[in-house]
Amino acid sequence: MYYIGIDLGTSAVKLLLMAGDGTIVKSVSKEYPISFPRPGWSEQDPEDWYENTQEGLVELLHGIDKSQVAGIGFGGQMHGLVVLDEEDRVIRPTILWNDGRTAEETDYLNEKIGKEKLSEYTANIAFAGFTAPKILWMKKHEPENYRQIHKIMLPKDYIAYRLTGVHCTDPSDASGTLFFDVKNRCWSEEMMEICGITREQLPDVFESYEVVGTLKEEIAERLGLNNDVKVVAGAGDNAAAAVGTGTVGEGKCNVSLGTSGTIFISSKKFGVDKNNALHAFAHADGNYHLMGVVLSAASCNKWWMEEILNTKDFQGEQEDIENLGRNSVYFLPYLMGERSPHNDPNAKGAFLGMTMETGRKDMTLAMMEGVAFAIRDSYEIAKALGIKVERTKMCGGGARSPLWRKILANVLDLKVDILEAEEGPALGGAMLAAVGCGEYASVEEAAERLVRTRLTVEPDPEIVALYDERYKVYRDIYPQLKGIFQKL
Ligand code: XUL
Repeated sequence: MYYIGIDLGTSAVKLLLMAGDGTIVKSVSKEYPISFPRPGWSEQDPEDWYENTQEGLVELLHGIDKSQVAGIGFGGQMHGLVVLDEEDRVIRPTILWNDGRTAEETDYLNEKIGKEKLSEYTANIAFAGFTAPKILWMKKHEPENYRQIHKIMLPKDYIAYRLTGVHCTDPSDASGTLFFDVKNRCWSEEMMEICGITREQLPDVFESYEVVGTLKEEIAERLGLNNDVKVVAGAGDNAAAAVGTGTVGEGKCNVSLGTSGTIFISSKKFGVDKNNALHAFAHADGNYHLMGVVLSAASCNKWWMEEILNTKDFQGEQEDIENLGRNSVYFLPYLMGERSPHNDPNAKGAFLGMTMETGRKDMTLAMMEGVAFAIRDSYEIAKALGIKVERTKMCGGGARSPLWRKILANVLDLKVDILEAEEGPALGGAMLAAVGCGEYASVEEAAERLVRTRLTVEPDPEIVALYDERYKVYRDIYPQLKGIFQKL
């Protein structure tokens, strides 16, 4: 049988068709715009997601034996606020995960309600990109829109709703709303009260591999699919990528360098970092994970190449860069503010340490190193919690760069496994569908049978030592600039 994975990303929707034995038969990607209505704000139109998903499905299924398609699963950008009125019409553009407009509401939650209470109710504190502060922002700034809210949804769940008519979500994505009691995998009564919302406004929660419904008849007909094609809840993109890279069960690690950068550590036990610098979220395999998030990762590369250097030759620009660990330039990758661990929407990007000798390649290297150091900030917190990993998988656009793989292996001092299939979240979505349709007994079994490593990048002790020294300097830069960022 075939399974479709839909990864509703920030720059594009990526669709993939997987055969039951894990073979990737075909994949398709459709880009859509993102708007930045003010500095630090970011929005998208859910209709763009849906139209492109529909077109992508038609393209994906072209020339395929459609009778073999059994299930559909999702990965999706997390935290975005999709609000529907009582006719299930979208009320306003979605405020995305990397939107920093809610500094005031985030402070209110963390300071007035208090981090201890938030952590007790949800296992997390408030970050500007999370969904709950966005609801408070709407209440204050758009009372008209706020009054019309009938359903609060997350991006991928809106697509599931359009395909099935069911208002659903899953524990991994729900974890990033701050309305969710992560430990007990249910909506938090206390948080609903604090944010002035009701249970009816929230979708029903299904495990990521659970079937939420079947395709609507007219959609199945239009696509030429059987009308018993099952749709599973899917997962937030990081949890879906973790499934696609086999980061499930106990103590596995995955680093994703996409629009955002994340370090994701799976765990069979529920656990919280006492300062809540890392997110403690539910996982798509039925367990839990800890995660640190850099808001701009591969997007720093895109910005640097396209907006500043004016080139599309990403590979050419990285060729011949060899002086790993010896660069004197530093870069803070906070182009959309900072999430983990500093939680500062006012933070900005910065280059530091240039001289007359600095060239274009040093700046490119600094940009890539800055992202790796920002990931290390979260990894250091995990280490301080006693978490030990000796290798990590790597996925996302950044994983296609041999240079970035090498930088990451040496900055983190971890073996970096590159997998045969690069399509982390979309593959994870398809694997969750395969589990939901009974092709595999569990997510762990699917990961064990389907995920294969293609190559491993080993850290080099000499470069690791050089990066250790550079990381100490990197770590000192943000606290020195924090006050200045506030004035910018
Ligand atoms: C995770 C996060 C991002 C988005 C990107 O907390 O905000 O990784 O999910 O799509």
